[in-house]
Order: sequence, then structure tokens, then C-alpha cells
Amino acid sequence: MIVKTALFEKSSTQVQQCPERQIPEYAFIGRSNVGKSSLINKVCNKNKLAKTSSTPGKTQLINHFLINDKWYLVDLPGYGFAKMPLAEKKKMELMINDYLLNRRNLTNIFVLIDSRHKPLEIDLNFIESLAENQLPFTIIFTKADKNKKRQLELNIKEYQELLLESWEELPPIIVTSSESGIGTSELLNDIEQYNKIFLEN
Ligand code: GTP
Ligand code: MG
Repeated sequence: MIVKTALFEKSSTQVQQCPERQIPEYAFIGRSNVGKSSLINKVCNKNKLAKTSSTPGKTQLINHFLINDKWYLVDLPGYGFAKMPLAEKKKMELMINDYLLNRRNLTNIFVLIDSRHKPLEIDLNFIESLAENQLPFTIIFTKADKNKKRQLELNIKEYQELLLESWEELPPIIVTSSESGIGTSELLNDIEQYNKIFLEN
């Protein structure tokens, strides 16, 4: 699939404010600074579509981008940003959970994980909570360009092995880089398949 048009539609503070159109929707979620906004820009081939920053906590709202006039990409705030005041952190967590649980047209969740790090409790707990709530998701490893090839393979293998300790099978996994662009066409192909399934139902 090719992204022909990518337009910012709106920012919402709660699920009730999100766009009304019932078209397939895909959310990017993950720890603060993992590269959600950068990957959205890369996928859409539009540098300044979603706001990015080297300082964690940049994205604070539910941001809808309309792609090809047919589906939404959603940029969410990151979780686990240590420096944010506790009350604000709680508020953001509630907003994200409410969105994930109650957004009816949410078709798939892309959980972004930094490919440089050892598996982190916070990410594993988040993945666990998605499974408990029977929400469909794909794991996206980000910043692949920041690893040597061998290290990247080792990190991903370690993650897979850990997941298989509590799961019978692995969720879909895509390795990406917003620098080199690897994984973006795979991601778009995935979305294309989900779009088809959405329209059939
Ligand atoms: P929050 O909105 O704060 O939760 O962060 P985010 O997950 O949206 O991250 P963002 O896209 O703003 O990127 C954070 C930093 O990582 C920026 O400095 C990006 O340039 C950098 N970055 C993101 N993706 C990549 C990547 O694939 N490769 C490299 N080398 N840097 C990346
Ligand atoms: Mg962001």
C-alpha cells in the first residue's frame, strides 16, 4: 500500500472527542521517546506530520491522522515517563486505557519497543494487559539502525524467548527504523490486510 495523503485531523483529550467516522484505526503506543511519532512520519513520508522530540513526553494527546481518506493512524502519548508529575501521569494513563478499551473502530494496536534495550517490565506488563483485555496487537521494534545487526538479532531473540515463557505463540513482530525506513512497507502491508478484514465485517 502507498500513502497518498496523510492529514492531521484532530487532537482529543478523551475517547468521546475522537472523530466519529467508523473507519479502520491503528494506534501507535509505547514508552515515551520510543519513536512513535517519528515512525508515523516515516510511514507517511511526511517529516512534520506528528510532532517529535528528543525530550520524552512530547505527545500528550490522542492525535488522529487521516490516511488516504480511508483509515486513521493515531499517535498516543508514551507511558512510563519518569519525570512527569504523578497526577499527570495517572491522568494520561487513564486517557490511554479508556481509549484502548472503548474506541470501537480500533482495528489493531502497534506496541513500539526500543530494539536497543533488554526487555523491560513496563513493556511486558503493558503487553500482558492488552492480552488480558483481548485487544489485538503487533509488536514493533524501533530504532533498528542504532544496533549492530548481530546485536539486533540477539535482542529480538531474547524478547521472543521471554514472551514464549508466558505465551503459546508469538504475536506478529515487525522490526523498523525511522532513519533507514526498514519495516515501513511491511507495516503498511499489515495495515492493508487489516483494512480488508475490517471492511468484510
Ligand atoms: P513521546 O511523544 O515523547 O512519547 O515520544 P515518541 O515515542 O513519539 O518518540 P519520537 O518519535 O518523538 O522520537 C524520540 C527521539 O528518538 C527523537 O529524537 C527521534 O529523532 C529519535 N528516533 C525515533 N525513531 C528513531 C529511529 O528509528 N532511529 C533513530 N536513530 N532515532 C530515532
Ligand atoms: Mg510522540
